[in-house]
Amino acid sequence: MAAIQLENVSKSYGAVSVIENLSLTVDAGELVVFLGPSGSGKSTLLRMIAGLETIDRGSLTIGGLRCESLPPGQRNVAMVFQNYALYPHMTVRENMAFGLRNIGLPTPEIDKRVAEAARMLEMEALLERRPSQLSGGQRQRVAIGRAIVKEPKAFLFDEPLSNLDAALRVRTRVELAQLHQRMKATMIYVTHDQTEAMTLADRIVVLNKCKIEQIGSPMDVYLRPASRFVASFIGSPGMNFLPVEVPRPGRAPVTMRNGFQLEIDAAVPSGGQFDLGIRPEAVNVVTDGDTASAATTEASVSVVERLGERTLAYCRLNDGTEIIAQDSGRSGIRAGDRVRLSFDPTAIHLFDAAGKSYAAH
Ligand SMILES: Nc1ncnc2c1ncn2[C@@H]1O[C@H](COP(=O)(O)OP(=O)(O)OP(=O)(O)O)[C@@H](O)[C@H]1O
Ligand SMILES: [Mg+2]
Repeated sequence: MAAIQLENVSKSYGAVSVIENLSLTVDAGELVVFLGPSGSGKSTLLRMIAGLETIDRGSLTIGGLRCESLPPGQRNVAMVFQNYALYPHMTVRENMAFGLRNIGLPTPEIDKRVAEAARMLEMEALLERRPSQLSGGQRQRVAIGRAIVKEPKAFLFDEPLSNLDAALRVRTRVELAQLHQRMKATMIYVTHDQTEAMTLADRIVVLNKCKIEQIGSPMDVYLRPASRFVASFIGSPGMNFLPVEVPRPGRAPVTMRNGFQLEIDAAVPSGGQFDLGIRPEAVNVVTDGDTASAATTEASVSVVERLGERTLAYCRLNDGTEIIAQDSGRSGIRAGDRVRLSFDPTAIHLFDAAGKSYAAH
């Protein structure tokens, strides 16, 4: 399998510059997810690698081969789209074989590859059906099969699961992860769904406004977001942000708007106004029975969401600041309750006005 390298690539549509001097390496056999909101440049970047969009400046190398000027057919990558684009009048077998016949591969080799892909995707029983006789998930598997039979150096997926219902998305996601483990193939997977990114990726490339905000393993971007944008985009529900006054760098109590003070170790360049970021699972509801070791602040509960294994409490501090806290699945809290909240001091981030992240523990 092949590594993919983008070096200082740029792209404009007419006078509008979309991607500027972007560099990125995907290692051989790695599954990298491009994650970002709509319009962040995910598809453009993927299509530039596939050869479906031109690269204005910079270089693209796939498996050691310079590719930026090669037509798509010579790049040895296979792309799978959101809309499966299957030929409706052909059977599953014919759909998978079509591209191989076009390049003149001998029939025994085509049959072998189709059989192998069908086995891998557990589609042997479906080979003689037409796309209209398949479910959405099965159609998407045919589209993946069509990519597999090409034996490409890399697979490029653009939101391949977004037409599937929730349960099928989860199942197909797991199948894709297993397929990646079995094939050890280089894969780039585009999605705006952070759960898909977290569960599938070896590394996530977080894109915002066509720029890379952060590259890291799923837990890296989750635990150590490089910016407020990354912190708010990863995790569901998103991170809480609370304005605080930081007196000075180092260990010191920061003060929230309701007067509550929390001792943290802030790696900021100087004191001032920051936003304190903390995920809901690190804000806990303290019940009367608990011997409160950590400092707590008072809040009122406005909405309770029971998710089964945990309960989310949408709370309001005395100054009106909204914050989401987490309690156990069997929590007895109800909307209207007054509760006390504790903050896990090891899970705190600070963000300056520009959104830059600083460690705080
Ligand atoms: N053909 C085009 N002409 C002009 N601008 C374009 C063209 N295609 C894309 N863009 C712009 O490039 C930027 C990136 O678009 P892109 O399609 O890569 O986003 P995306 O992250 O894939 O979004 P989505 O999640 O909605 O698919 C957007 O600002 C978009 O408006
Ligand atoms: Mg897109």
